[in-house]
Amino acid sequence: MKARVLSGIQPTGHLHIGNYLGALRNWVKIQHDFESIFCIVDLHAITVHQDPAALREQILQLAGLFIAAGIDPKSSTMIVQSSVAQHAELAWMLTCVTPLGWLERMTQYKAKTEAAETIGDGLLQYPVLMAADILLYQAKVVPVGEDQRQHIELARDIAQRFNSLYGDTFTMPETRLPIAGARVMGLDDPTKKMSKSATGSGHAIGLLDPPNEIKKKINRATTDSNPAVDIETMGHGVANLLNIYQAFTDATSEQVRNEFAGQRYGDVKKKVIEAVVAGVEPIQKRYAEITADRTYLNGVLKDGAERVRPIAESTTRLVRERMGLYNLS
Ligand code: TRP
Repeated sequence: MKARVLSGIQPTGHLHIGNYLGALRNWVKIQHDFESIFCIVDLHAITVHQDPAALREQILQLAGLFIAAGIDPKSSTMIVQSSVAQHAELAWMLTCVTPLGWLERMTQYKAKTEAAETIGDGLLQYPVLMAADILLYQAKVVPVGEDQRQHIELARDIAQRFNSLYGDTFTMPETRLPIAGARVMGLDDPTKKMSKSATGSGHAIGLLDPPNEIKKKINRATTDSNPAVDIETMGHGVANLLNIYQAFTDATSEQVRNEFAGQRYGDVKKKVIEAVVAGVEPIQKRYAEITADRTYLNGVLKDGAERVRPIAESTTRLVRERMGLYNLS
């Protein structure tokens, strides 16, 4: 039997090449080695306020992008988190075995709440809900970026605590990340990971950006004060451009270094633009075809929810029993 893999992306903002190279493309590569579940985590999205109409639209858009990027909805299961009610149900049960201190310690929680005036309780509970996503399906492998490692470790801690309080119930997810994704940095500030929530228009390249937009953004991308690429001393901005090129062309870092050493930034950027445009073009084409048929997309998501529901029901039935909650007979 294949091990079960589960991962998720929030349907907020627009998916960018950092999400693609760092996560989605890896899912595509490994999907057939596992029993795969890919989750559009709309309940996570509402931990900060979302415009309802925009959120609904972004959920469908993300589903379309999953398929356009190569997720095969026949063999892999795609779900919208909120359409399987047990995610929220299990999250509550897990909340009740989670010490507050574990949550207050999460670095992402601390970062997100630093700037905020009022802090929604959902932000604190965010990692418990993520643990519920994973443990609900007894997933063994969780392909995420390095920035999510602390959340996976928390899911393990919660599982362990539950198991020791109530008896063996949850499979421990592994901390091992199946394959390393590329870590793409912001074009305007290459010391920060490319992010959907950053506001600068020159920060991220959207997976659906047209070629002229991609060109404009890369041409404006930060480099360094060297006159040309110096492999030894290159700044983060130059390294980031080479990294993006490497990821899209599937080259080795040695090949990329040989190709770019001593090249002027104008020429470097031209090649990077070509590689990115060539990389996103087929995805954009498929995306346009797929989203033209909303009934098909909705059908995929409905089918996904139906496929996983028996697993979700069986886990929550067991958890209810273990915790002494009432099961109607
Ligand atoms: N928190 C994850 C992120 O921002 C998204 C996520 C939610 C997730 N639930 C998950 C990832 C379950 C893996 C498994 O990237």
